[in-house]
Amino acid sequence: MTELIMEKPQERFQNLLKSDKYRQRISQMSLSGATSLVLDFEDLLIADSELAENLLSQPEEYLEHGNNAAFDQLQIQDPEYADKIRDIGVSVRLRGIPFSTPIRKLSSEHIGRLVMLEGIIIRATNVRPLVTNGVFRCKRCDEPMVVPQTGNFLTFPYRCSNPTCRGTRSFEFVQEESEFIDSQELRIQEYPEELPPGQTPRSLDIQLVGRDIVDVARPGDRVYVVGIVRAEARSYPRTGKLRAFGLHIEANLVDTAGEEPESLVLSAEEEEEIRRLAKDPWIHRKIVRSIAPSVYGYEHIKESVMYLLFGGVPKHLPDIRIRGELNILLIGDPGTAKSQLLRYVPRIAPRGLYTSGRGTTAAGLTAAVLPTSTGGMTLEAGALVLADRGIACIDEMDKMRPDDRVAIHEAMEQHTISIAKGGIVATLNARAAILGAANPALGRYDAYRTVAENISLPVTILSRFDLIFVLRDVPEKERDSYMSEHILELHMRGAPPAEPPISSALLRKYIAHARGIAPTLTPEALSRLKDFYLEMRSASEAEGSPIAITARQLESLVRVSEARARAALREKVLAEDAEHAIAIMKRSLEESGIDVSSHKIDIDIIMTGKPKSLQDKLKVILTVLREMETETGAVKRQDLLDRLGSEFDIRRGEAERLIGQLVREGMVYEPRTGYLKKT
Ligand SMILES: Nc1ncnc2c1ncn2[C@@H]1O[C@H](COP(=O)(O)OP(=O)(O)OP(=O)(O)O)[C@@H](O)[C@H]1O
Ligand SMILES: [Mg+2]
Ligand SMILES: [Zn+2]
Repeated sequence: MTELIMEKPQERFQNLLKSDKYRQRISQMSLSGATSLVLDFEDLLIADSELAENLLSQPEEYLEHGNNAAFDQLQIQDPEYADKIRDIGVSVRLRGIPFSTPIRKLSSEHIGRLVMLEGIIIRATNVRPLVTNGVFRCKRCDEPMVVPQTGNFLTFPYRCSNPTCRGTRSFEFVQEESEFIDSQELRIQEYPEELPPGQTPRSLDIQLVGRDIVDVARPGDRVYVVGIVRAEARSYPRTGKLRAFGLHIEANLVDTAGEEPESLVLSAEEEEEIRRLAKDPWIHRKIVRSIAPSVYGYEHIKESVMYLLFGGVPKHLPDIRIRGELNILLIGDPGTAKSQLLRYVPRIAPRGLYTSGRGTTAAGLTAAVLPTSTGGMTLEAGALVLADRGIACIDEMDKMRPDDRVAIHEAMEQHTISIAKGGIVATLNARAAILGAANPALGRYDAYRTVAENISLPVTILSRFDLIFVLRDVPEKERDSYMSEHILELHMRGAPPAEPPISSALLRKYIAHARGIAPTLTPEALSRLKDFYLEMRSASEAEGSPIAITARQLESLVRVSEARARAALREKVLAEDAEHAIAIMKRSLEESGIDVSSHKIDIDIIMTGKPKSLQDKLKVILTVLREMETETGAVKRQDLLDRLGSEFDIRRGEAERLIGQLVREGMVYEPRTGYLKKT
């Protein structure tokens, strides 16, 4: 005969809490002054699956039973502390519900149920006291009254409780006698990288009530939220409530999700596949060919994007922190596939997002403090905060908001965003690599101008990019023919002409796996980088020479070398990594309008927009031009360039640029193509 035991829910909870694990948790509550007890859902599921099921379907009622059970158990184990927190009680908080509901799947069928959701916090209000029991005083007879409060608005007494008064009008809220509880509102959004292509992200408001649950997470944090789904109608003072309700979550628990990207979960086959790939001597080329295969050419840019995806190793020194992430800028003529490249990257980055320079929200690229509809202030995360530990692809970067222009400096070097405004003081993490794209200020890139002159970004921002590349749309027969073939075939077949050697899904996992490796420089790699740096620096020792490269470029070289080692899943940075880093750095410097072969790399061009000896050189050019004019009239451009090179050591690229500047300034003009004349 089986005995039917119909225990009350509260007792069933208490059975679980009597186990060693929870006895221990409960006995530790007084140490930390906790008023909540975390219950692992799994334990409940194993101990009493029916109770677990009821908790999910009727959370309000069952949480209450749980809370009471927890308080009773506390009273048994630690009567003194139980007495101390009697007014507040104990809140049971549930962790680890085994299935999470996608934010975009949340619907009316979930109303009233306990669910778990995952998302990234995009905004958080400051912590505000919320009235739970309002005390009011009748202005006619001074009678005090207590009104329990729910909802968004303060509920006043309907009528004075004094039988001889029964006044209905003037009541005064007595703040000192009312009861308050801490509250906060968060908004979470779907993970940017899990967004279906072309969709705008869905978000959801989360209400937090209770001292122990507020202020546990910041914008940019990835969190699990367990809570009750609530539907609320928006109220309007005159017209009443709308029939269409909005959903929000009354949180029971907010837990920060792991810092590691989710795609790191590997199957045995995938692990094998990744190990096999890493052994391939051509692994770097394979990865490059798997990046945006629909975009023709730009091998060096795709190579740089590979380095960006893997990233260097951040250094946490006792006194300073040096970023490991790379920042890359593409400056280019319209229609040179910049946007195409940028849009592709979030598909293979373990974490990444694409945004335009203006940002898609009021928070823009960094962060903003905004007023809320209920009179408080809310801190909203911008793109770089949402891309924390990932890659932010920022298109139209030259068009960012003035506020972002100021805040982005800190974000790009220190990887934090500090904000102090409207009573909110916070530092948010923005450990993101930036892949930026920008158009030249005058529509097209002018090769005769410096990078700084070509783009409307301050040099202080430009100098924070490790690599800068220029994409120019210059007609070139051979390339044009290949590219048109490529594009036409793409349109005809509806697929890139060559299959990527590594699929996006696998590459993403490969990258996530590789980012767990922290390669160290071998002595050989170190000496290559050092030699290159010293060689470039020595070029500037000669009197009057510009400063060649700075410590910033040296750090960039280390980052690129480390990234290349990571891409082959190597623990060691080899000489070949250093050499590739040097090659790509040279290419970037050259594209920025600097003549590398002469060793006159002038980082001042990037840093200040002006080479040190610019004025001298301009003078030389004008003098030579005048001299030659007296001999031949209009001067052949080529002759001038030759003479500047042989007699004054002004190299061709630089001379072209300076002549271009003189033409723009109206000092020199072109009477016919290939000829120059002083005005
Ligand atoms: N190298 C290329 N390979 C393949 N397609 C290309 C290439 N260059 C341009 N295109 C095509 O040209 C079109 C324009 O490219 P995209 O919009 O990326 O240019 P953009 O550089 O972002 O221009 P803008 O500066 O005007 O924003 C796209 O459809 C793209 O596929
Ligand atoms: Mg574009
Ligand atoms: Zn009264």
